[in-house]
Amino acid sequence: MLRNDQLDQWDRANLFHPSTHLGQFARGEMPNRIVTGGEGVYIRDRDGTKLLDAFAGLYCVNVGYGRTEIADAIAKQAHELAYYHAYVGHGTEAAITLAHMVLERAPKNMSKVYFGLSGSDANETNIKLIWYYNNILGRPGKKTVISRWRGYHGSGLMTGSLTGLDLFHKKFDLPLDQVTHTEAPYYFRRPDASMSEEEFSAYCAAKLEELILKEGPDTVAAFIGEPVLGTGGIVPPPKGYWAAIQPVLKKYDILLIADEVVTGFGRLGSMFGSDHYGIEPDIITIAKGLTSAYAPLSGSIISEKVWKVLERGTDELGAIGHGWTYSAHPIGAAAGVANLKLIDELGLVENARNVGSYLLDTMRQALARQPIVGEVRGEGLLCAVELVEDRDKRRFFDPAKKVGPQAAAALLKRGVIARAMPQGDILGYAPPLCLTRQEADTIVMATRDAIEEVGRNLR
Ligand SMILES: Cc1ncc(COP(=O)(O)O)c(C=O)c1O
Repeated sequence: MLRNDQLDQWDRANLFHPSTHLGQFARGEMPNRIVTGGEGVYIRDRDGTKLLDAFAGLYCVNVGYGRTEIADAIAKQAHELAYYHAYVGHGTEAAITLAHMVLERAPKNMSKVYFGLSGSDANETNIKLIWYYNNILGRPGKKTVISRWRGYHGSGLMTGSLTGLDLFHKKFDLPLDQVTHTEAPYYFRRPDASMSEEEFSAYCAAKLEELILKEGPDTVAAFIGEPVLGTGGIVPPPKGYWAAIQPVLKKYDILLIADEVVTGFGRLGSMFGSDHYGIEPDIITIAKGLTSAYAPLSGSIISEKVWKVLERGTDELGAIGHGWTYSAHPIGAAAGVANLKLIDELGLVENARNVGSYLLDTMRQALARQPIVGEVRGEGLLCAVELVEDRDKRRFFDPAKKVGPQAAAALLKRGVIARAMPQGDILGYAPPLCLTRQEADTIVMATRDAIEEVGRNLR
């Protein structure tokens, strides 16, 4: 039973929760959870329930909860100078230091960092800059952006268009005309079961080229992709995918945006997914792991190639007409500096690699005999369990059965938070990068029991 106290009433009466069934929530037909604290990989709610957060909030609390080093850095910055803007050459020590630290860690050929607040606004910035870039280069027709089905890049007008998930388009009049989508690099859902991973990668590259030729190469400005598909199902690329895609983009002079909002700063066991997969992007999107969500901050890391053209643009036109009041906000930047230091000091990138491969291996072993488990996949501390009606025939459940949400609920009963990914019956895991092997065992055992229960109920 829900507690019908003041906070519950206010919650249902006043707060518009994102990604929530609005009617059910307002009518009290679904529970709420009011979270009050956290430590390490655990959160606690006001009823005293302690839960292992195997999704790190929204794959963002990478250093774990309750880090006083970051809280102290935020407090110090707030006391000294809570805000000053970054327009017309103004700045703060925190923002300047953070830009330097990001570039020290970024793949080579990166030149500058523009700081925003969310992954969505960073991708909006990226597309605006690419349009500006092509206008300055005298090719105003080169504007279309290609994204992948199942890609996730935010939920603004442009970024919701880039996102390749139905729920984010339906009834919102999206995608916008300047966006088009290509094949998702989703090997488990490949069109022909006999394809090897390399063949499927070549197929994706051929589909991309086909789309570019259909649109007209002179009209295509950029391609955006996450190194590992995230919200679309947590899907590492098939072997050879990025090596097959990049030559196609180069051939038609199409810029590459690596959306590293999830993968940046260690999640894959490498500092950036671009380094992990040999991706050479023109722009990199960062957010989440930049501050481990202790304060909102995102960034667009701009390559030297793009930067040179932007500079040329302002020589021709004057100051760049782009910026937010909160660009390079000092409190977010102070959180970022403390967070990146902590990631180094605690060796979290290496831990993500080691404990990530342990989690994947033990998950595979534990679920090997579960008939409704179609695939267990992952990279670093990203892991997914895809549930299917028939594994051999790759037959999926009727979405109306909500098998994924049932499994997430069964897992929650056992004290572990995983995410029922929005499209498909997929349990997603992206725990804080400080996860221990013991905590990984807890996740795996709870998952096995939860899936057994769901399997029994389906029979
Ligand atoms: C890859 C990727 N890009 C962009 C975003 C959007 O970030 P935000 O929710 O901060 O706007 C997300 C959010 O999950 C993401 O996973």
